[in-house]
Amino acid sequence: MKLVFATNNSHKLDEVQNLLSDKIELLSLNDIKCSEDIPEDYDTLEENALQKARYISKKYSINCFADDTGLEIESLQGRPGVFSARYAGESKDSEANMNKVLDELKGIENRKARFRTVIALIIDNEEFLFEGIVNGQILVSKTGEDGFGYDPIFKPDNYSQSFAQMSIDLKNKISHRGIATQKLIKFLLKQ
Ligand code: IMP
Repeated sequence: MKLVFATNNSHKLDEVQNLLSDKIELLSLNDIKCSEDIPEDYDTLEENALQKARYISKKYSINCFADDTGLEIESLQGRPGVFSARYAGESKDSEANMNKVLDELKGIENRKARFRTVIALIIDNEEFLFEGIVNGQILVSKTGEDGFGYDPIFKPDNYSQSFAQMSIDLKNKISHRGIATQKLIKFLLKQ
């Protein structure tokens, strides 16, 4: 079966293809010659992931899955959430996004947060959702050099390192995206 992952992020693609059997051939957006901006108009991760997957499966008549992720901070009523990528503006600048979060949490004791990923899968017009959550805390300052996005200010519960200090293998094993992806793979391998 051919299956499109609605991304061109080679790291995400490799991660999933490595876990799938030869039964499933994973294709990127480049592979299907999709270069347009895929709409993400909603204010929940579920609706955005579904919108992206529906767009591709309808326009290209192919089975597809898409993901959407947000950092949800308890003291900020779940913000930045679905707006995580552009929290500090349209330039999608990770440093500015982290600085905004650190400013907003200055002097606030409750620093509980979670990353949440939703994957929407469409197979033969049937829709399925898979969720992955990792709970943690927002640190008081940036810590660690690796990773991307909000990794330097997020420390998962039961670990002493921030995501930006962890090996990629450990992060993938315990992360929101890792957990959602493992659920997707388990489902696909049963097909
Ligand atoms: P996306 O839905 O995967 O594009 O994620 C949306 C935004 O959430 C990204 O632009 C990042 O700012 C943030 N984000 C997603 N996953 C992670 C992660 O694993 N670590 C840190 N930030 C992340």
